[in-house]
Amino acid sequence: MEVITRVAEMQARARQWRQEGKQVGFVPTMGYFHQGHLSLIRRAVQENDLAVVSVYVNPTQFGPQEDFHRYPRDLERDIRLAEEEGVHVLFAPSDAEMYPQGYQTYVEVTELTQGLCGARRPGHFRGVATVVAKLFHIVQPTRAYFGEKDYQQLRVVERMVRDLNLGVEIVPMPIVRESDGLAMSSRNVYLSPEERRAATVLYRAWKAAQEWVAQGERDAPRLREKVVRFIEAEPLARVDYVEIVDPLTLEPLERLEGEARLMLAAFVGSTRLIDNGPLTAT
Ligand code: PAF
Repeated sequence: MEVITRVAEMQARARQWRQEGKQVGFVPTMGYFHQGHLSLIRRAVQENDLAVVSVYVNPTQFGPQEDFHRYPRDLERDIRLAEEEGVHVLFAPSDAEMYPQGYQTYVEVTELTQGLCGARRPGHFRGVATVVAKLFHIVQPTRAYFGEKDYQQLRVVERMVRDLNLGVEIVPMPIVRESDGLAMSSRNVYLSPEERRAATVLYRAWKAAQEWVAQGERDAPRLREKVVRFIEAEPLARVDYVEIVDPLTLEPLERLEGEARLMLAAFVGSTRLIDNGPLTAT
């Protein structure tokens, strides 16, 4: 496996692969790999001639009060794991490579980013869309893999790819969970043992919501209230948002008919966690 840190070098390699007609699978990450990342990486290795993984903690998607500086990092371990999975290139650029002096161009997806995490984290999706667009231009992938854990991000990236004709196939991948249901996240390392136990409340809330829907609940605002109360019953948890939305437009729903998505964000102690899952009204 090759580790590339320079944009120009990564672009040259990508150009060469294109000329050779190679299919390139790409997994953009912020590193500190867990099983969720590894599931994306395995799939990229499996269904492409070559797989590229980027490791870059992107400063433009963090707010000034957020955890950019303490976000967990372990590049040596990430390199080892990517190599074991058969990745061809790990791209790990510096901030100076990605945002050189004078940088001033950003990508904005205007509507899908209005609610949910977009409302709570101003500028977050502008940073995500910008860095993903840049990475796509640098790596020139055939396919790119995104986890459904960041469900709004997935929809935002899909929209950007269509709107800007980026010509990359976006492959969504299911959430990978710990055995007790907690969605895997690099931020789970922030949790104390007690918070770690409480953090399963998001998964349990989704399961409870599925059960309420199975029992016939079709009123989305009432279901939402029940989910809020369920989460707030956990003393260490504080709801940031609970929304029941259309899975494609992310617009809040009034009635549950067909497929909906339950979108959850909560603070457990001082750590903000997100989760989501389908709700099917048959
Ligand atoms: O999901 C992430 O880890 C990041 O938001 C991404 C897509 C790598 C962009 O920095």
